[in-house]
Amino acid sequence: MKINGKHYRSVWPADNGIDVCIFDQTKLPFEVSIITLTTMEEAATSIKDMWVRGAPLIGAVAAYGVALAMHRDSSDAALKNAYDVLVATRPTAINLKWALDRICGALTPLPAAERGDAAYRIAAEIADEDAEICHRIGEHGLTIIRDIAARKKPGEPVNILTHCNAGWLATVDWGTALSPIYQAYDEGINIHVWVDETRPRNQGGLTAFELGSHGVPHTLIADNAGGHLMQHGEVDMCIVGTDRTTARGDVCNKIGTYLKALAAKANNVPFYVALPSPTLDFTVWDGVKEIPIEQRAGEEQSHVFGITPEGTRSWVNTAPAGTRCGNYAFDVTPAEYVTGLITERGICDASPAGLKGMFPEMWPSEYEV
Ligand code: MRU
Repeated sequence: MKINGKHYRSVWPADNGIDVCIFDQTKLPFEVSIITLTTMEEAATSIKDMWVRGAPLIGAVAAYGVALAMHRDSSDAALKNAYDVLVATRPTAINLKWALDRICGALTPLPAAERGDAAYRIAAEIADEDAEICHRIGEHGLTIIRDIAARKKPGEPVNILTHCNAGWLATVDWGTALSPIYQAYDEGINIHVWVDETRPRNQGGLTAFELGSHGVPHTLIADNAGGHLMQHGEVDMCIVGTDRTTARGDVCNKIGTYLKALAAKANNVPFYVALPSPTLDFTVWDGVKEIPIEQRAGEEQSHVFGITPEGTRSWVNTAPAGTRCGNYAFDVTPAEYVTGLITERGICDASPAGLKGMFPEMWPSEYEV
C-alpha cells in the first residue's frame, strides 16, 4: 500500500539482502520511521514491544527473525533458540507459532550450511503469501459491500465499522478487514468507515492513518460509540480481523471486539470477520476457555500516547498515581455472534461445518462434524 504515493510493504528485506526493514508502529500515526532489524533478538523485541503488530505481520517478522539468526549461526542449537525466543514474544495470535513451525520445520532437516539461504527464501514466501491471501480476502469481502451498496439510495454511503487495525500495517500488504474496504473504494463504491479508537493502544489511529493515506472517508470514534451508532441505523456492517479463530468458529481479536459483536447482534447489523487461513487454530475448540489472552503492562492503560501542538511525542498519565490497571489485550467473540468468516477461499459460516467445508485438508480427523 502507499504512503505519500510510494508503495511499501510492512516488512521487507534491506538492500544488503540480510537485514530486515519495518515501520516503527509505536511512532505512527505521527511519524513515519523505518527501523532496520539486524539480529534475531531485535526482531523479537520488535514483536514484544509492538514496533510491529497485527497477527499476520508478527508471523512474517518472526520468520525473518529466524533468517537473521541463521545468517549468524545456523546450528541446531541456534535454530532451537530462535524458535523459543520468538514464539514467547506474544501469546495470543496463532500466526506467530504458525510461521515459526513452518520455517523451523523446513530448516531442521537441512544441512546447517543450507539453512541461511533457505530461511530468507521461506520468510519471503510467507510474506508473499500473506499479501496474496489478504488481496483475495478483499475480493471476497468486496462482494458483501457491493450487495449492501446496491440496496442504498443514491448518494448514501455504505457505513462500515471496524475495530483495532486490521489493515496493511497489521499484515504484509492490503490488510484483512481493510482489504475489502480498499477494494470497494477503488471500485468507486461510496463508503464511509467508523474507526474505533481501540484503547488502550489506540490502534484506531493506525487505521485512520491508513484510510487517510488511501483517501477512504472515515470518522474516528470512541470505543463506546458503536452501540449508539448501530441503534440509529448508522452502521451497515462491521468487519474486524482476528488473531486466532477456533474449529468451532470462535473469534479472538482485539479487546472490545466482543462488545461490538453483541451490539451488532442486538441491532441486526451483520458482523463479519476477515480470516486468513494461518489464523486458524483447529487444535482449539472453545475459544473462551482455551485461548491464552495476553495481558500487557498497566502503564498502557493509565497513560495515553500523543503529540503536542509543538510536535513533541509523549505519554500522558490519565489515572491517579498508583491506580491498579488491568490491560487485557484480546477477547473472544463466540461463533454465534459472527455473521460470516471472509477467508481467502470465500465466505463461510463461523461453524465447524463452515470451516471444515472451506479448509477440509486442515480439519483434524478426530473431530466428528
Ligand atoms: O495487539 P495488536 O495490535 O497486535 O492486535 C491486532 C489485532 O487484534 C488485529 O485485529 C488482528 O491481529 C488482525 S490483523 C489482520
